[in-house]
Amino acid sequence: MTVSPSVPAGKGRVLIVGATGFIGQFITQACIDTGRPTYVLVRSTPRCLSKAKAIKALEDKGVTILHGVISDQELMEKILKEHEIDIVISAVGGATILDQLTLVHAMKAVGTIKRFLPSEFGHDVDRADPVEPGLTMYQEKRQVRRLIEESGVPYTYICCNSIASWPYYNNTHPSEVLPPLDQFQIYGDGSVKAYFVAGTDIGKLTMKTVDDIRAVNKNVHFRPSCNYLNINELASLWEKKIGRTLPKVTVSEDDLLAAAAENIIPQSIVAAFTHDIFIKGCQVNFSIDGPYNVDVGTLYPDETFRTMDECFHDFFMKIENKHVAAEEEITPNHVVEPLPIPMCA
Ligand SMILES: NC(=O)c1ccc[n+]([C@@H]2O[C@H](COP(=O)([O-])OP(=O)(O)OC[C@H]3O[C@@H](n4cnc5c(N)ncnc54)[C@H](OP(=O)(O)O)[C@@H]3O)[C@@H](O)[C@H]2O)c1
Repeated sequence: MTVSPSVPAGKGRVLIVGATGFIGQFITQACIDTGRPTYVLVRSTPRCLSKAKAIKALEDKGVTILHGVISDQELMEKILKEHEIDIVISAVGGATILDQLTLVHAMKAVGTIKRFLPSEFGHDVDRADPVEPGLTMYQEKRQVRRLIEESGVPYTYICCNSIASWPYYNNTHPSEVLPPLDQFQIYGDGSVKAYFVAGTDIGKLTMKTVDDIRAVNKNVHFRPSCNYLNINELASLWEKKIGRTLPKVTVSEDDLLAAAAENIIPQSIVAAFTHDIFIKGCQVNFSIDGPYNVDVGTLYPDETFRTMDECFHDFFMKIENKHVAAEEEITPNHVVEPLPIPMCA
């Protein structure tokens, strides 16, 4: 496998799909930080006010905004050609994983893409085997993988494990929520370990792989030893931050399986993954070996990860800031900034 010398390292034009999403925002910011020409594809009508604001903020940072959907092959071919895109990163959500099949066809037809990173950003979906409805999502991600491999487009699969946060079993975007302040829900006996990675580190390290020849056609696994923790350890860490202990309630394997079996999307998908991580140990029950797997720490030994302690500190500061804001609100004659009104469903 050769990578065209026409693209100097660190300069290839990057198209990001899903830049307004939860994971996509970290990738996009990291891409901007590298100084690469950054293009993002957004759907024509932003779904809510906060997304419209996010798109405007990207534009202000010099990002080129393109409109469309990846399921339009003709449009995608036109965009890839006209803007001479070298690298495509997709961070579409679980509901539109299969839309990437058309994107792969477009990249194959154009024939100039140096690297494609499909929407993975979790587990190695060829190894992990969650119960339904998590399995269906993995089967879709596997289907995308097989088409990419068949297409000949060079790829990298980012297996970054869990985003740094309290891993709520029913919340797709747990890092947007504070860790518990009333009681902990502990999965099983709380002893099964997992890896937690800050969103900013997911973005930063993902961007390092995009023109690293050592990551071509590989799974890149994120396993920071500093954030190798079980749920009991996470609970203790949070208790230290808030300065008090909280009651613990056990969520058993059967509870998680029942939540998954309810088949409420997306919560049941998250319950299925939670079962796979914290009961079955899907992040830790295999070693990274063979020619198609590489640890991101081996690729970039000088890069440090934000620790869970630091991430929990950020959450704690949010609580502190809320208290300050609440106190200021009751202070007479104090001008308080209006809070943004969430418009997303
Ligand atoms: N490791 C973890 O802890 C973790 C946590 C969450 C997610 N993930 C993974 O990360 C990936 C992204 O998930 P997410 O939760 O970040 O997704 P998300 O928040 O739902 O965002 C999806 C983004 O993709 C865009 N999009 C969806 N379909 C599109 C299409 N056909 N054409 C163009 N744009 C499209 C959306 O645009 P609109 O703004 O128009 O809707 C949105 O910007 C998934 O593979 C997911 O499994 C991992």
